[in-house]
Amino acid sequence: MYEICPETPADEPEVEGLYDLCFAPGRTALSSYRLRDGVPRVAELCLVLRDAGGTLVAAIRFWPVRVDDHPVLLLGPIAVHPTAQGEGLGGLLMRDSLTRARRMGFDRVLLVGDAPYYSRFGFQRLDDVVMPPPTNPDRVLGLELRPDAWVNVAGPVQRETRPPVDPPAPDPTACTQVDPPKRPADDRTETPRPAPHH
Ligand SMILES: CC(C)(COP(=O)(O)OP(=O)(O)OC[C@H]1O[C@@H](n2cnc3c(N)ncnc32)[C@H](O)[C@@H]1OP(=O)(O)O)[C@@H](O)C(=O)NCCC(=O)NCCS
Repeated sequence: MYEICPETPADEPEVEGLYDLCFAPGRTALSSYRLRDGVPRVAELCLVLRDAGGTLVAAIRFWPVRVDDHPVLLLGPIAVHPTAQGEGLGGLLMRDSLTRARRMGFDRVLLVGDAPYYSRFGFQRLDDVVMPPPTNPDRVLGLELRPDAWVNVAGPVQRETRPPVDPPAPDPTACTQVDPPKRPADDRTETPRPAPHH
């Protein structure tokens, strides 16, 4: 059993440690971090996933940004501990956080990442949305949380400059208990071994 909960200030050092482990040194020098500097995260959507023993296994964060003055959610970073990658936990966090975002009334999500991974969640290349350079345009991907939310939303991605509202106090009821995702190996049926010959 795993538990997905909103990140609290007490989680922060562990989450930073996980990101340091999973990303190349200097990750915060990336241009996408300039959109995040000094801007509070979307607290309800920054989630940690812990195993039954309480060990942090994965984390995801979101920031508010603007495109053509429309509010947009910037997804990332997301990371799964190297010993647990490929087990479906990244997918769990993606789906859980996007469901929460839709429920909260957000319309559209943006990320910079590998299309072969994120397309499974519905992300598609955004031809007319420009991240601060140097960003490979093929990695600028968007998802609509309501129909046509990205239609006619184009231009440079900008920092959210509106005054932040106070983040809500952590809500312990906002946690989700999830079963371990099914691994592909679970689908395999054992091939019966031939009876030994004597
Ligand atoms: C990317 C990451 C979050 C995915 O989480 P995960 O729990 O390992 O992924 P899942 O188990 O949900 O999905 C596994 C599938 O995704 C694929 N996948 C994982 N990373 C991929 C990538 N960068 N590009 C393409 N496919 C990828 C795997 O090949 C596997 O494919 P399959 O389902 O066909 O077997 C995780 O591997 C990670 O933390 N990586 C290091 C940090 C990172 O790169 N974060 C993303 C920044 S954009």
